[in-house]
Amino acid sequence: MTLAIQRVRSKWAKTKVLNRSSDLRQYVPLTKRFNRETLRSMLEEYEMVYVKPDSGTFGKGVIRVEKTSEGYRYQIQKDARTVATFDGLYEGLQRYTGKKGYLIQKGVYLLKHQKRRFDIRVMVQKNLQNKWETTAILGRLSAPHNVVTNYHSGGTMMTFEKLMSEHLSASEISAYSSRLKKLGTAIGRQLSTAYPNLKELGADVAIDTKMHPWVLEVNTKPHPYIYKILADKSVYRKVRKYSLAYGGIKGKRSSR
Ligand SMILES: Nc1ncnc2c1ncn2[C@@H]1O[C@H](COP(=O)(O)OP(=O)(O)O)[C@@H](O)[C@H]1O
Ligand SMILES: [Mg+2]
Repeated sequence: MTLAIQRVRSKWAKTKVLNRSSDLRQYVPLTKRFNRETLRSMLEEYEMVYVKPDSGTFGKGVIRVEKTSEGYRYQIQKDARTVATFDGLYEGLQRYTGKKGYLIQKGVYLLKHQKRRFDIRVMVQKNLQNKWETTAILGRLSAPHNVVTNYHSGGTMMTFEKLMSEHLSASEISAYSSRLKKLGTAIGRQLSTAYPNLKELGADVAIDTKMHPWVLEVNTKPHPYIYKILADKSVYRKVRKYSLAYGGIKGKRSSR
């Protein structure tokens, strides 16, 4: 019998494990559990923060909060509101955060492509030697005016090279890609210290305007099929091969 692949839903739990690594900490935006006090202190520290469900997916319930000259502005999907006071902001956010665990995270100003924000999905898998290997990198472009890049929230998949070509030269893009691959395997090794049966992960990496990479979250059930869109078919073939080997996706003869 093979051990089931480990899944970890709580972003808070995974963030704590990443922060135990002195090498990785510099890539993790400051994250706290959401409450009135952390909302206040984070907005004293940063102009912009993200408030999001601890166990969310697909960009659902993710809120961007900004300080403005008139008070505060908060936006969920494409729906933005402004409020004059901190109490008004906290009350407004509580309509979303009241029921379940929420986190608050330093906001990253993402790079843009044609005025739309983008971030990067880095796919990391256990290879046939049982070592972490970064197998794919794909860009995700938000729908116009949206505050999340997720495909299920109207985002569009696009190659890393195309999205970065406005920001870096071809040789810089290839160096940056190697850097992201190393970051991916480092994340895999670090999360394995707490979750030894993890086989695959998808890190959501934001690149800020100073080209610093930030790990916004790590998914432990990443979608393997999105890499089919890449012109380089060897990428998806490898993703699939590794996933079949550890049972992430099942072969044709399986019953499911
Ligand atoms: N700290 C942040 N700064 C900037 N953008 C963020 C931040 N956190 C989340 N986002 C945006 O929201 C999207 C969804 O957030 P994420 O933490 O990945 O949750 P989900 O599990 O819903 O995908 C991200 O891909 C990114 O586009
Ligand atoms: Mg995500």
